[in-house]
Amino acid sequence: SDTPEIKKGLVGVYADVSTVSKVMPETNSLTYRGYPVQDLCENASFDETAYLLWNGELPTAAQLAAFRAEEKANRALTPALLRVLAEFPKSAHPMDMIRTAVSFLGMEDPETADISDAAQRRKAMRLLARIPTAVAASNRLSKGLAPIAPDPSLPFCENFFHMVFGKVPQPEVIKAFDVSMILYAEHTFNASTYTARLVTSSMSDMHAAITAAIGSLKGPLHGGANEAVMHMLKEIPSPEVAEAWLRDRFDHKALVMGFGHRVYKTGDSRVPTMKKYAEIMAEVVGDKRWMNTSAVLARVMLAEKNIHPNLDFPAGPAYYLMGFDIPLFTPIFVCSRITGWAAHVLEQAADNRLIRPLSHYTGVAERAVVPIAARG
Ligand code: CMC
Repeated sequence: SDTPEIKKGLVGVYADVSTVSKVMPETNSLTYRGYPVQDLCENASFDETAYLLWNGELPTAAQLAAFRAEEKANRALTPALLRVLAEFPKSAHPMDMIRTAVSFLGMEDPETADISDAAQRRKAMRLLARIPTAVAASNRLSKGLAPIAPDPSLPFCENFFHMVFGKVPQPEVIKAFDVSMILYAEHTFNASTYTARLVTSSMSDMHAAITAAIGSLKGPLHGGANEAVMHMLKEIPSPEVAEAWLRDRFDHKALVMGFGHRVYKTGDSRVPTMKKYAEIMAEVVGDKRWMNTSAVLARVMLAEKNIHPNLDFPAGPAYYLMGFDIPLFTPIFVCSRITGWAAHVLEQAADNRLIRPLSHYTGVAERAVVPIAARG
């Protein structure tokens, strides 16, 4: 036949080489630039991880100090962007707000059109520093609260809590958040990262690539799942009825959010670490309901469907226990994944070829246009 082989969803397709990260589904493991993520979670911080993803090596103390100083110096938003954020409809989803804010940052950036490697790196740093400020400010504005300016004396994670809540929580909470940021930072050619590379392949700029990636991440099959998980957990009245609730879900052939993965089929490498820190959060807050309900869902999903949880499954309740509004969960994912996206934008640009696949036409056969007067 003349039908070419179609790889729907690009399942199993190697679209390019990459030196950023490696997923090994056979061993449920993941490395960033060769370092296992669990090792980074226990022995490094999110900002060290960001440096690693962008530079290929972990920073020395001096390199990290310089990286942190640059991040801190770039956090503030312009009055113009703050006015734009204040004009957003209160009902808008925070992912739409941050997508629009990043697009606006692109218009303001003095180097938007400069796609040299050096300029793209400077823009990535400005985005890493400003995205959390825009996420926190738009969250507060949508609740009728005044934004809280970034505090350059605070480290990255502490500053985010400060901008959202006006206070910095205890170190256990900061550590759990930092770990989530490391785990969310990078994951090979997922949909949003591939979107960023696709945009980059036409020689477009950093802000264009990141704006598009945010649009991709929003979907519930991707980053939106961490919010969907929490909505689901809240729908289940108690751990005791979780199994019955899930079986009803099976009867309706509905997706169970936070389960399944395109690459991992026997467990997501990031789940044990995130689960450990979600349990620490449950301990800190003194609320075990969500983790108890989660345990029932995970047990029944594995027994009945042989499907394992993904990172969003423990991340959702962890963020809820930290006190974040549910619609902020995926924007928090953006605050982290900007690091992986930017690393891939740089890698794509350094060895670029326009990404332009083929489609196999299955529509109506060629035909002549009938003038409008003769149609009907
Ligand atoms: N609930 C119920 N059934 C599922 C689920 C699920 N969450 N995930 C997969 N299945 C079933 C699926 O219906 C299919 O069954 P069948 O063979 O009978 O049609 C089978 O398992 C194989 O799944 P698949 O459709 O081949 O998997 P995929 O690689 O196309 O999709 C996925 C992967 C992540 C989109 C999917 O598992 C899913 O929709 N999960 C729920 C959403 C979610 O949690 N997304 C987060 C992904 S990971 C982190 C991130 O990106 O943020």
